Amino acid sequence: MVALAAKTQTRLTIQTAEIASDTTAIRSLDWDRDRFDIEFGLRNGTTYNSFIIRGEKIALVDTSHEKFRQLYLEALTQAIDPAEIDYLVISHTEPDHSGLVKDFLELAPQATVVGSKVAIKFLEDLVHQPFQRQIVKGGDELDLGNGHVLEFVIAPNLHWPDTMFSYDRKTEMLFTCDAFGMHYCDDRMFDEELAAIEGDYRFYYDCLMAPNARSVLTALKRMEGLGTITTIATGHGPLLRYNLTELVERYRRWSQARAKAETTVAVFYVSDYGFSDRLSQALARGITKTGVAVEMMDLKSAELQDIQELAGRTSGIAISLPPASLESSRGAVSTILAAVKSKQVVGLFESYGGDDEPVDPLLNKFRELGLKVAFPAIRVKDMPGEATYQLCEESGTDMGQLLSRDRKIKARKALDSDLDKALGRISGGLYIITAQKGNITGAMLASWVSQASFQPLGLTIAVAKDRAIESMMQVGDTFVLNALEEGNYMHLMKHFLKRFPPGADRFAGVKTQVAENGSPILADALAYMECKVETRMECSDHWIVYSTVEAGRVSKPEGLTAVHHRKVGNYY
Ligand code: FEO
Repeated sequence: MVALAAKTQTRLTIQTAEIASDTTAIRSLDWDRDRFDIEFGLRNGTTYNSFIIRGEKIALVDTSHEKFRQLYLEALTQAIDPAEIDYLVISHTEPDHSGLVKDFLELAPQATVVGSKVAIKFLEDLVHQPFQRQIVKGGDELDLGNGHVLEFVIAPNLHWPDTMFSYDRKTEMLFTCDAFGMHYCDDRMFDEELAAIEGDYRFYYDCLMAPNARSVLTALKRMEGLGTITTIATGHGPLLRYNLTELVERYRRWSQARAKAETTVAVFYVSDYGFSDRLSQALARGITKTGVAVEMMDLKSAELQDIQELAGRTSGIAISLPPASLESSRGAVSTILAAVKSKQVVGLFESYGGDDEPVDPLLNKFRELGLKVAFPAIRVKDMPGEATYQLCEESGTDMGQLLSRDRKIKARKALDSDLDKALGRISGGLYIITAQKGNITGAMLASWVSQASFQPLGLTIAVAKDRAIESMMQVGDTFVLNALEEGNYMHLMKHFLKRFPPGADRFAGVKTQVAENGSPILADALAYMECKVETRMECSDHWIVYSTVEAGRVSKPEGLTAVHHRKVGNYY
């Protein structure tokens, strides 16, 4: 076994800098990933960004995570006397941005909290004390003086329903909190180097924003009504300035592609209950990987008629079980049950909130209504970790594949058969990709593999977007490419071609060793190569993953690689 490195002390630092006229950024830099939330999959740490705007009146935009209590409050009081702050603008109430609101209000009880209606409601539950508030709507303005007029844009679901953006007309800076952010921790305040951040930017979008693609498009439309935007001051990672247009356009392109999907699943969750939000994100990511769209809805803040409309309109329903003792949750669940139709599919998963609605009676009700169950109900018995998120993601993928199966079969039949047969004459070797990331593992049979460079030694692999292992082949991830031997591969091919249930151990009954990079090597492989993902290129329904090869060995020098001969080229 390869020994895992002992967990080092978590590094937390603070960065304070002037970023525009009368505008100071206080960034809390969290260098080490210390949680297994799906959106942190790239392991580049994160930052929590807060801003001071000094007009004649002074506003603070967002605070920080409570783990930065001492560091952040010290930095804030060094930058300004909190007694001089007139407004605290809340973009979003998730505790990574609002975890220190209560502490801040103790230092600045005179400050008026400015936020959307939903944010103020959520904040009441978070701080449990009276505070001065000003609820704002889209288009409302707050004049701080000296030209700093803040205009607000309501941007629900990016990330919770409470989110709003604030645009400062003087600095042409838009404060967006989660939207356009990324989990990337670096001393650089801005996005100077696109190549360094684009993998994280995309991964974060896929995890957090893709399930809300329609809301992204609505927010982009609302942003068009503002003046010129020269900087996007995000709540996580570098601020966007150098590549702003390109990165905003990517959000538009990715969201437009998702909004075109013919099939949609409604994912109902409860924003601040247990692990409902994170588990829902993992499930939603699994669904969107199949090309099926997701619309997420927070049962805590949604109106019953909106719940009814969404539940009645979509092809699939996934519910993160809400708290059983909360009357509003019961009302929401009853509304869903009344709205669904027998041709829909359903999936339930626990939230690990301590008071979850019981799974089985609810699942039975859906069955009685004629809905097909898309995946076995997910029961969360321990604090969710990597394996739980993987289970949710793979369950989501199963749900998406179930919903898109008929469409895919139709598309296959519609293609020109001569062309399909000609394309089928492109052959490739047979390989198994194996990977281990933390305590989760993955494997996939691959034949679209090709050497791609000499220096460094590199290769490309085409991976279908809905493959489970795709999540383990992000930029920076490592894996092993096992070459199968002609005449000695059927047992491995059969094993890895099986349809594994979500979260299943792909290596049960297979002889393996551990590579230097921690991934499994198949003992019966002809050769193996230890690879590291460098870049990924999006190609319609596949990712082309370019990886460098860091080590390798052949077990039988005279052996030949098995070749995959196909009949047609429009599916495999
Ligand atoms: Fe970064 Fe949804 O909070």
